[in-house]
Amino acid sequence: MLTDLTGANRHVVELFAFFHDSRRINEHVDDGHGARGAALARRLKVRYFDATDEEVDLLDFACVRHSDGLTKGDVPVLTCCDADRLDLGRVGITPRVKYLCTEASRRQTSMDQVHRRAHV
Ligand SMILES: [Fe+2]
Repeated sequence: MLTDLTGANRHVVELFAFFHDSRRINEHVDDGHGARGAALARRLKVRYFDATDEEVDLLDFACVRHSDGLTKGDVPVLTCCDADRLDLGRVGITPRVKYLCTEASRRQTSMDQVHRRAHV
């Protein structure tokens, strides 16, 4: 949904959805989980999915930095971060507008729509 609104590379955001938390070892503070997810993505590239070098670099950056409170940067990376933050309902946290990076994500309709999906 967000890529339609931000114009971000959909493939990068889809891959981020699969990998950014794929190497978590718990649902709390887990330093380095994004970097581990990025490393997994690099290992699985070619055999399990295709992506350009630029897409992998964006994916890597988004995975590594998604827990750092990033709010400035490339649109695909910011879209990944917003998608992750808008999904915080999965752990009982309501996303706050001030932590969202893109204008599209800050729209109340986006927040409501995604937050509702996080609770499904
Ligand atoms: Fe994470």
